[in-house]
Amino acid sequence: MRSLPFALPSVIAHRGASAVAPENTLAAFRRAADEGAAWIECDVKLTADGRPVVIHDDTLERTTDGGGPVAGAPLDTIGALDAGGWFDAAFRGEPVPTLEETLDLLAELGLGANIEIKPCKGRERETAEVVAALVAAQARDVPVLFSSFSHESLAAARDTAPAVPRGLLVWELPGDWQKLAETLDVVAIHADHATLKPDQVAAVHAAGYRVLAYTVNDEATARALVETGVNAIITDAPGRIRAALGGE
Ligand code: G3P
Ligand code: CA
Repeated sequence: MRSLPFALPSVIAHRGASAVAPENTLAAFRRAADEGAAWIECDVKLTADGRPVVIHDDTLERTTDGGGPVAGAPLDTIGALDAGGWFDAAFRGEPVPTLEETLDLLAELGLGANIEIKPCKGRERETAEVVAALVAAQARDVPVLFSSFSHESLAAARDTAPAVPRGLLVWELPGDWQKLAETLDVVAIHADHATLKPDQVAAVHAAGYRVLAYTVNDEATARALVETGVNAIITDAPGRIRAALGGE
């Protein structure tokens, strides 16, 4: 197995504990820690003025009280939005965090991060360069595994911060996965759990890569995936899935 500078946990909180708190907010990351998660997953893209913020969609409508493209608004505007009220009034006023604020909180909580580089179209390389440079320069020592569906972003992250490990995000394992994994120099394949077959997990392992499965919110499914050898489960409900897997 390709070496990692940290121990990868078997459960990762998808966008934080997003079953019980607004996704990709500091509140969701705190809840993940409360539920015993050792790592969170989060999505990062750039604002109009090139600042990395933690948000999933290319547009602001679904998870904030703003609107329009993330890439079309500066940090001042996005930072003033409410990213919690859509989920529950109890979270009203929760902001869209910057990547730096997120890393600060993770350091405080002692959590690691699977940072998904999720660029807006046309900003694949730029997003990865900004995110990778920021993570490589962090003095906080938060363990980080990058991932991305964008091959261009993974290549840019590799070139900018070669020491920060990367995972190749796919919906299902493509025929050329091994060539991609070698070229992009990744340590893991992150696949949609519904597409993963036991023989694929075995083949990925035999080639020396880990397998991470997303997004698994059903206990029996999580147990079955771990039985096939899947190394980590990415879930919206880290407490429940940890309990189903016997505490870790
Ligand atoms: O990292 C796994 C998963 O987060 C990828 O899909 O759409 O939830 O970002 P999505
Ligand atoms: Ca993601």
